[in-house]
This record gives sequence, structure tokens and C-alpha cells, in this order.
Amino acid sequence: MCGIVGYSGPENPKDVILSGLKSLEYRGYDSAGVAILNHGEFKRIRAEGKLSTLQKKLESETFDGHLGIGHTRWATHGAPVEKNAHPHTVRGISLVHNGIIENYLELKDALGPQTKFTSDTDSELVAHLIADEIERTHDLLKAVVNVLPRLQGAYSILVVSKDHPDEMVAFKNGPPLIVGSAQGAVLVASDVQAILPYTKKVVYLNDLEIAHVKGESFKVFDSLGRPLEKSVTTIDWTAEQAKKEGYEHFMLKEIFEQPRAVARVLAPHVDVSKHTVHVLEGTGLSERFREAERIAVIACGTSFYAGQVGAYLLEKLAKVSVTTDIASEFRYREPVIAKNTVAILISQSGETADTLAVLRQLKKVKVPVLSICNVKNSTIDREADGHLYMNSGPEVGVASTKAFTSTLALLHLLALDVAKVRSTLPLQDEERYVRALLAAPAQMETVLACDKFFGEAAATLKNFKGFLYMGRGVNYPIALEGALKLKELAYMHAEGYAAGEMKHGPLALIDGRMAVVMLAPSDELYEKTLSNLEEAKARGGVIISIGTLGNDKLRDLSTHYLALPRAEWSVNPMLEAIPLQLLAYHVAHALGHDVDQPRNLAKSVTVE
Ligand code: M6R
Repeated sequence: MCGIVGYSGPENPKDVILSGLKSLEYRGYDSAGVAILNHGEFKRIRAEGKLSTLQKKLESETFDGHLGIGHTRWATHGAPVEKNAHPHTVRGISLVHNGIIENYLELKDALGPQTKFTSDTDSELVAHLIADEIERTHDLLKAVVNVLPRLQGAYSILVVSKDHPDEMVAFKNGPPLIVGSAQGAVLVASDVQAILPYTKKVVYLNDLEIAHVKGESFKVFDSLGRPLEKSVTTIDWTAEQAKKEGYEHFMLKEIFEQPRAVARVLAPHVDVSKHTVHVLEGTGLSERFREAERIAVIACGTSFYAGQVGAYLLEKLAKVSVTTDIASEFRYREPVIAKNTVAILISQSGETADTLAVLRQLKKVKVPVLSICNVKNSTIDREADGHLYMNSGPEVGVASTKAFTSTLALLHLLALDVAKVRSTLPLQDEERYVRALLAAPAQMETVLACDKFFGEAAATLKNFKGFLYMGRGVNYPIALEGALKLKELAYMHAEGYAAGEMKHGPLALIDGRMAVVMLAPSDELYEKTLSNLEEAKARGGVIISIGTLGNDKLRDLSTHYLALPRAEWSVNPMLEAIPLQLLAYHVAHALGHDVDQPRNLAKSVTVE
């Protein structure tokens, strides 16, 4: 949601904090600010808008101190204007906050009308509470220990005080906070990417833990202020991986990275000489999947659509009953959980609040949870019983692309392995599917060539009044994902439909200003999909079809026809995703939108 950076060390804090904030800008980008020590006071500079505005403001600023904090915001309480930007400063306390203080009105009332607020945020309230405590205790750590039990909600906070100029205190309940110790310096951040250029060794704070930084070292305490022993994690991502590599946008780079990412996710789980799969082994959940009467797949957004593809694969290959749920629905619908249920929770960031809440709900009723995350050591990853990784490397574009296709590949492997432990798939079929999966990265490379087509077509496509995406079977969730991509990037009306549903309503939408994107690869539903396409064509829809090489009938019915290489039905979704991502990317770009940071969205949704 928001990004937090703190630095205490010999380098210029302004530079370190700005470069950290730059790498966290994907978490929020409607305002930003810093508070850096200068002549014994924390000098605060804030700016509305993107980080570049703050950067400009800071150009002429100098600071003589060696400690500071910074923040990039995604507004939850209060409009995205300078007065609501962080840090919030109250009587020498400066504080940055990510998340929501749920009981803030109650706490604000308790402070009484004599307490004057200068912003509309819940964050400033915490600064008041800490300032009051500092006046009583004259101790920054103790002040935080005293305030912590009063806060309800999901938050991570970093605070400094002018009376304790060599200290920072970080504490959290929910959104991530990481502390890294480099030579003579300590960094605190919401994401390892901000710390990686300085050190690969980091400590992840758990909920209700407090990190107390003093000079060049730090200690971790529990919520009562008792010292804790924490293990140090070594991160194997390089800072280099997060750069754009010459592409105009991170999203485009990440789209083009997909063949590599998929190859990377397959490699550790496939025996390439025997063409067999071993994915469950390391999760410790083989037995649970063998005995499962029900598999529950739960996630949000793009991860949910990947999960829906996974459900088709699991049911078809492993012959097991699968339910799919959107996490924000599941958590409040008092679900009846079938006996012997195993859950698969999918989250690229591993921090999505609704998915995390579902994980905790399931653990309470002893349902084993397998997590599929991209960010290792994220909260969902750490709290699940078994773990699989998308292994995509950092995904910076807010719109998920490579994490999606890597998840599709991983779910395919998982479905094959679950089928194996349940003895539902003959060995020769497993081998056939594995061969098809191993061929996918190269096939994806060829599909990327349609970049040129969408680059040129975008100028026309951007003028349509709307887009209907359609597919059947395993292609249906890809239609939903294609529509989501266009919505989030191009801000255009787009809907995904099961093609068989056309005549039950959406057909009425179709006319010459409506583009129909039809997913119709060669599979057992191809002929049926063609009939749905004819219905759309008869109503004057402009048809962009994505099919398999040699589908002449499809080509003849379409205004534009893109041919995918021949692949197994179960691999088609990974290939189809690419043209849909490129369509959304180019239309958004042609409309002049910020592709990497679409409006109103954030990469990691750590609040409800
Ligand atoms: O980090 P997660 O996979 O849990 O995120 C879930 C959604 O917020 C995410 O997929 C969102 O829909 C993306 N912006 C899609 O591109």
C-alpha cells in the first residue's frame, strides 16, 4: 500500500531514502515525504503527487544529520494532498505509517478537542499518542511499547524523535517491515527491494514486534518490550533484477520476461530426462492432497483467475472436487468447509490482506494451507503450512503479468503431481503434459511477436466503446484476466464472459463499436466456441480472435486473427495471456496512461 524507508548510517540519508522510495513507489504514489535530521531537528519536506515532485523539492535541500525516514503514500484516510502526506510531525515526533488504524476515531475522541490535528489522517493520531508518551517516559522505545496495545488495525509504523536523534523505532501489525544491517548502517523498509542495494541480510519483523535502531545497530523486542532473538534471512534477489533492462516500462519488460520466468518456475520441479513432475515433495502436504475430498482455491484479482485455471486442471487431471473463492468473499460468508479440505492460497505479493485473513481463518479450523507466492518470506508464505514459489523475480508493474503465467505453470505442475499421488493419471499422460509444459517457454517467445500487431492496432482499438472477452473451459478465466488487464491499465469498459453465456445477456451489448476478443484455441470446445463467435459476428461485433495455427474457420470469421502455436489444451492459457497483456499495455500506452502505475491501484493491497 504505502512504502516506508528509514536510514541510520554514514551515507547521505537523503540519497539513501530517495533511492529506497523509488524502489517502493509501486506501493503507492499519490504523495511522498521525508523527515531527516538537520541541526538536531527533523526537517520535514513533503510533496503531493509522484515521487519525482518530492525529488525536485529536495534538490536544493541539505541535511547535516545521519538519520531519516521517508514515505510514499497510497491514500486511505484523507485526500492525496500535501497536508496528508507523511511524515506526520507532532511535538518533535515524526512518523510514517502504512495501513489503517481502525479505532482512530475512538482514540481521537479520547484525546479531546484540545488536541489539534493538521491532517485528515489516522497516522497523525499515532504521532500524538507517541508524543504524549515521550513527554511522560522520555524514552522512544517505551513510548511505542505503551502506545502499541491501544492501536487496532493493520499497520506498520516507523517513528523518530528529536529528543532521541540517533534512534528509530519500527513496529507492525500486518503490513511488512524489514530491517537490514549494512556496514555501519541500519535500514528499515516495507520491502527488501529498498534494502537490497546495501545488504542482502535482513530480519523480518513479525506482528507486534518492535525494532529499536540505535546508531549503527538494532535490537528487536516483543510488544511488552522484552528482547527477542531473531534469525537473519539472506535474500538471493539482486537489485539489478528490478531494473527495466531497456524496456520503456517495467510492465513491458515483465511481459517479455515470461518465457524465462516460466522456464525458471518449471526447472526445480521437473525431471527432464524422465518427463515427470515432483512438486508436492517439498511442501510436506503430499498425504493431505492424496486424502483430500475437496481442494479450496482462494485468492484475489489476477491470482484468483490463475486459481480458476488451476481448478479446471485439478478437477480434470486429479479428479478431485475443487472450489474457487475470492478471498474477500470467502472470509465473510461463513463457508461450510468440507471434511478433508486442503486449501491453496495464491498471492504474488504474499501480503494481500483478504487472502491473509482467509489463511488465518483456515488455520484456526485446522485446514492445511499451501501458499503460492512470489515474494519469499512474505507474511502468507511464512504463515502457510506448505510453500510453493512463482519464482518470477521482482514484479514491479502494478499489473501482474509474469507472476500470473508462472502461477499457471506451477498450478499445472501441481495438478499433475496431485493426479500422481491420487493415481488418476497414467504415466504416459504425465509425460505428455510435462513435454507440453517444457515446450511452453519457447512457444511463449513466438507469441511475443504479436507485440508489433498490438503496437499498431492500439491506435484503432483505443476508440472502441468497450471490449468483451470470451472463452470456454480453461480459457474462460483467461478472458476474465484479459478484461481485468484492460480495465486496470486503459480504464476502459471490459468484461470477461464464458462464451456459452453470450445469449443469456451480453449479446445485447454487441454492435460495431464493441470489440469482441475471442479465445478459441484448438481444444475439445473449439467447435462450440465457433458457434458463439458466429452469434457475435452476426450482431456486427469487431472480432479479434486468438486461436491455434491453422484454424482457418476461425480466421475467416474474425476481423483480426492471431495464431498461437499448437499446444496441449492445458498450456493454451499461458500462451493466450500474452496477447491479452500486450493488448492492454498498448491501448493504455496509446491513451497516454501511466502503464506501470495505473491510477488508484497499488501493487500490494495490505488493507481490506
Ligand atoms: O499480491 P496478490 O497476488 O495477492 O494480489 C492480488 C491482486 O491485488 C492483484 O492480482 C491485482 O488484481 C493486480 N493488479 C492485477 O494485475
